[in-house]
Parts: sequence; structure tokens; C-alpha cells
Amino acid sequence: MMDLAVAKKNLEKNGYLDLEVDPTLDLFEEIEKLKKEKNAIILAHYYQEADIQDIADYIGDSLGLSQQAASTDADMIVFAGVHFMAETAKMLSPDKKVILPDLKAGCSLADSCPPELFRKFKAKYPDHVVVSYINCTAELKTLTDICCTSTNAVHIIESIPKDKEIIFAPDINLGRYLVKKTGRDMVLWNGSCMVHEIFSGEKITKLIERHPEAKFIAHPECEAHILEIADFIGSTTGLLNYTKRSDAKEFIVATEAGIIHQMQKASPDKTFIPAPPNNTCACNECPHMRRNTLEKLYLSMKYEQPEIILPQWVIDEGRASIDRMLEISAKAGL
Ligand code: 13P
Ligand code: SF4
Repeated sequence: MMDLAVAKKNLEKNGYLDLEVDPTLDLFEEIEKLKKEKNAIILAHYYQEADIQDIADYIGDSLGLSQQAASTDADMIVFAGVHFMAETAKMLSPDKKVILPDLKAGCSLADSCPPELFRKFKAKYPDHVVVSYINCTAELKTLTDICCTSTNAVHIIESIPKDKEIIFAPDINLGRYLVKKTGRDMVLWNGSCMVHEIFSGEKITKLIERHPEAKFIAHPECEAHILEIADFIGSTTGLLNYTKRSDAKEFIVATEAGIIHQMQKASPDKTFIPAPPNNTCACNECPHMRRNTLEKLYLSMKYEQPEIILPQWVIDEGRASIDRMLEISAKAGL
């Protein structure tokens, strides 16, 4: 364990401030105090651990979090999520301090589309509109015409004139789902999410046989053979809302397991079973999302680090793609 000066020096290497937290502290109380003292808001994705969800001011999916980041009047946004989400918040609120408890909370999907390779790919289709899933780096957003999230992706694709061709990046599974759903033939980048591509169709089918009354629900980042057997496909918020309004009492959930905390809170009388992954993986938790802990959240708020800093050109050239997405979503009432 280190002192503050050393911890700050090692911040880039570690991704977070490696400092000891007094184990007798009530971190919920301390974080509440820091929120007031610093006029800070905590935005948490549904894939965060339960304690972080419980201390957050807003919990949501990627669209809801972007909308909050764009509209908050807090001075400091503490982003309990992954790096691309905090970058998006910074692009939307460049004058605010944006803190991410662990800078190494990355994303396999964002990493699967390096901007330098995408630039060359895009050059092959000069007349295509580029739609990027928001799960991409800030730099990729500078090469993008319109962003989308899993909540608004269909609306975004449908907002593009039919005579315009489309490149969709980086998630091939969501891309294939959108091709099927909208009937638009798009050029797809071959990226994927390490959490959503590990579900085992065979094990899920056996589980469904053992729970014939259960609804099987899946996120569109899952592979096509998983989506084919789903009773309902939706974004994280879409899945949560489905479990609230459905009469079913049991659900098999194919997405990151963190969302089950909110599902269970909203419907305490219902049962939620995480969909089984294949043999190579032990659980459905995103290792990037789970790098954030309550201790790291507390330390990052106390010392206001790690902070997200973006080059001005990235903010200038990338922001329009997020603004367009938010405009189309607002018009669609999302
Ligand atoms: P949504 O928040 O749009 O459901 O996306 C899920 C996800 O993988 C976030 O990293
Ligand atoms: Fe990225 Fe997948 Fe983790 Fe979401 S769940 S942050 S898409 S790796």
C-alpha cells in the first residue's frame, strides 16, 4: 500500500489510486458526504456491483446514462461504468470534471475496433453513413456519423434515408440483429463483446426444458443462435422493463448478471436465472465493469482522480455523432 504522492504517480500504471481505505469507515455515508461537498453525481451502469448501484444517483443503460451526462447540473460526474462511457460523458459535458474509479475498466467490444484500422475500412465505402454502437472509443466516434445504443439502434437505422448505405460498427452480433430487424443490408465490422458471446445454446436449451414456464430473455449483443431461441430481445433497460410487466414468474437472463440486482428489486416475487455460459467461462460478469469497487469509487471522489481528459479535437469531431443520436432518441420519445 502506498502514500498519496506515490499512488498518484502510479495512477497510470495501476488505473486507480492504490491507497488503503480505513476498514471501519462507512463508505456509503462517506460517499454521500463527498457527493454533497463536491456537487457530484454518480452515474452507474446496470452491470456494476450491487453496492455501487445502491449508492448511485442514477442507474441506467448506455442511453439513459448519456442522457443524464448531457443534462446534469452537477460539477463532477463520477462514472461507475467503463472507459468509453466516461469518455462519452466528457464529450457531452466537456466543462465538467468526469471521474472513472478505475481507468482500466475498458471494453472488449470497444477494443475490437481500433480507429486506425477502422479508418482504412471506412475508406473502402466512401458514400456509406457510419453508425457506431456507443460501445466504442472516443476516437472512433470522430469517424462516426451517428452513434446508437441497444435501446435506440432500430430507430437510428430507420432514421437514415433508404437510398443511403450503412456501415455498422463495432458489434457484429447487434449488427446482424439490426439487419434482420430493419431489413437494411449493412456493411458490418467484425467486433464482439466478451460477455455476450459466451452463452451456451446447448446449456440454455436444457435449462429451458427444466423450466418450461420461464421466459428466456437476451441482449442483442448475444450471438444469433442465442437470439433465435429468445422469447424477448432487448437492451438492458428493455429486459428490465419486460420482467416488470410480464406475468411470468421465472426468467432466464442472457446478459451481464449485474442487471439481476434491479430485476430482483423491482419484482421480488419473481426468480431470475443467469443464462449459463459455455465451459470456458465461469460467470456472466464483465471483468471490465467489475474493476470498479466501492473503495475505488470512494477514493476517486475524495481525490478527484482518475480523471477523463480528452484532446479538444476528439471532443469537437466526436460529439456530433452523440448529439445526433440524442436528438433522434428524443424525437422517438426514448
Ligand atoms: P446497454 O447499456 O445499451 O444495454 O448495453 C449493454 C452493454 O454491454 C454496456 O456495456
Ligand atoms: Fe464491453 Fe461487453 Fe463489458 Fe459491455 S459487457 S463493457 S460491451 S465487454
